[in-house]
Amino acid sequence: MCGIVGAIAKRNITPILIEGLRRLEYRGYDSAGVAVLVPGKGIQRTRAVGKVIELENALAKEPVQCHLGIAHTRWATHGKPAERNAHPHLSERLAIVHNGIIENHGPLRKRLTDLGYTFTSETDTEVVAHLLAHHYKEKPDLLCAFRSTLAELHGAYALGVIHQDEPDTLYCARMGSPLVIGEGSEERFVASDPLALLQVTDQFIYLEEGDHARLSLEGRDIWNRRNLPVEYPVLRYEHAALSLDKGEYRHYMLKEIHEQPSAIANTLEGTLAEDHVLTAVLGPDAETRLQDIQNIHIVACGTSYHAGLVARYWIEEQAGLPCQVEVASEYRYRQVAVPGNTLLITISQSGETADTLAALRHSKQQGYLASLAICNVAGSSLVREADWRLLTKAGPEIGVASTKAFTTQLTALLWFSTALAQTNNRAPEMISANVRALRTLPGLVEQALYLDGRIEQLAATFANKQHALFLGRGTHYPIAMEGALKLKEISYIHAEAYAAGELKHGPLALVDEDMPVVSIAPSDSLLEKLKSNLQEVRARGGQLINFACETAELDNGDGITHIHLPPASDSISPIVYSIPLQLLSYHVALVKGTDVDKPRNLAKSVTVE
Ligand code: AGP
Repeated sequence: MCGIVGAIAKRNITPILIEGLRRLEYRGYDSAGVAVLVPGKGIQRTRAVGKVIELENALAKEPVQCHLGIAHTRWATHGKPAERNAHPHLSERLAIVHNGIIENHGPLRKRLTDLGYTFTSETDTEVVAHLLAHHYKEKPDLLCAFRSTLAELHGAYALGVIHQDEPDTLYCARMGSPLVIGEGSEERFVASDPLALLQVTDQFIYLEEGDHARLSLEGRDIWNRRNLPVEYPVLRYEHAALSLDKGEYRHYMLKEIHEQPSAIANTLEGTLAEDHVLTAVLGPDAETRLQDIQNIHIVACGTSYHAGLVARYWIEEQAGLPCQVEVASEYRYRQVAVPGNTLLITISQSGETADTLAALRHSKQQGYLASLAICNVAGSSLVREADWRLLTKAGPEIGVASTKAFTTQLTALLWFSTALAQTNNRAPEMISANVRALRTLPGLVEQALYLDGRIEQLAATFANKQHALFLGRGTHYPIAMEGALKLKEISYIHAEAYAAGELKHGPLALVDEDMPVVSIAPSDSLLEKLKSNLQEVRARGGQLINFACETAELDNGDGITHIHLPPASDSISPIVYSIPLQLLSYHVALVKGTDVDKPRNLAKSVTVE
């Protein structure tokens, strides 16, 4: 997804802009650009298709010292990846960068063309540049012109603006796309993600929807959508101490897979007592508020949606509450029937996923009791707009394929299910068993990571495969879905997951010796049922790869591979079984030579619809 970085400082800001773009590379992009105000010369723009390094090379040809500038990585939506479509876009003496989508760009483009403006790109962004230039021409006051421009835009935007006539000012605004201000000492920055600015500051101001701001060396002015001045606290970025480099690892994804024991331990820190969970983590009156909940709706996208699907089993079985789970892109456009006292849970790593955020906003008119955001980014829009929050403490996740975010979401959801069970006076043995299991979880995940070498050997068997099936039952069915998503995402092998009992209702027709079938076979109450399903696969010559506990006593034979996992109690088993599936997709991607951390066509944080 697109990324924005902007800076005003006494020092030369070009290296800061470039480093900021580099730190946003993980979000996915196809071109990059920078516009700086060169003293005595005006705005100088450089753009390049491809990686940030191409832009850097282009800039190196004519190095300049400058103190005000904006930069952008573009992920094409309107107009193909091409230099002419890359940001910043210029109009007269100004330059802008934009994340999001301007929905009324068509009529605006027509009006501006009629007014004599010439468009050089197919983007929706260029209309914003010309519209601002037009308003400035009518009344040469940049703040007023900026406000008149914002008032005409429909859709989503985060904007950064510089103008030759105000060489000491950087303007920015947000509506539907995230934007933070980074505070330095007599220098200020703006970015779509604080990660871009950790090179220069760990102090951030998170703009709210509809805000716009004017930044200078001396200070900042922020106004809300009614143009009234607002003040926000400057917050220290919590994960700033965490290393953002790959360290000893070849890829961020591998590093993040290996960080899971500590990410899970951090997520659980301060949440567990001897034999019960500490519900006060949810706020001072959590106990009373939890008592009111009679139904749960969970809404999320992608991997976070899979975490919600696992949680449904826990919440219904452990807490005895009805729970339904839906992808946010569907939920946001339908009229939901909301029974009384229903809690809406949104789950998101980034807290900026456009569909999930829109679903939360949509829910506000649907009569929910309250909303809870389970999220990895404390200052994100989702967290700020929800009534309650439960933070996962995975630390920054850079690899596009979600790994530690997923297992920490599951950890938080199991904790929350236990909290609901506790509030509803469900069996105390079950609650204390969950607490014990959660305590053992980081250690078990560590043991599962020892399977790395064994899985690496197995990966070669997928090298020439076009398709794969993943099977699971119960809580492990969504884990099979997540395993299939991981394989698709980074190795580009078509993979589908089925509840194993569904195999005979259609997908069995696909099974032959060219079809690897991955089964998740923990020793739980459904194991015997699963064994029958696996026999159906073997009888058709399908290659079986079983992730199972040693005690599972699965059939041996040609075409069957077993990978043994440590025994884990039922509640945490889906979390432990996620680990080898992540490793499998990682090693298959290595064999296939794909771009593991930045798979084609994908973005880390999907901030457009
Ligand atoms: C995970 O591997 C994916 N890249 C993707 O499905 C992701 O989980 C989804 O886009 C939701 O993101 P979020 O958790 O940041 O909301």
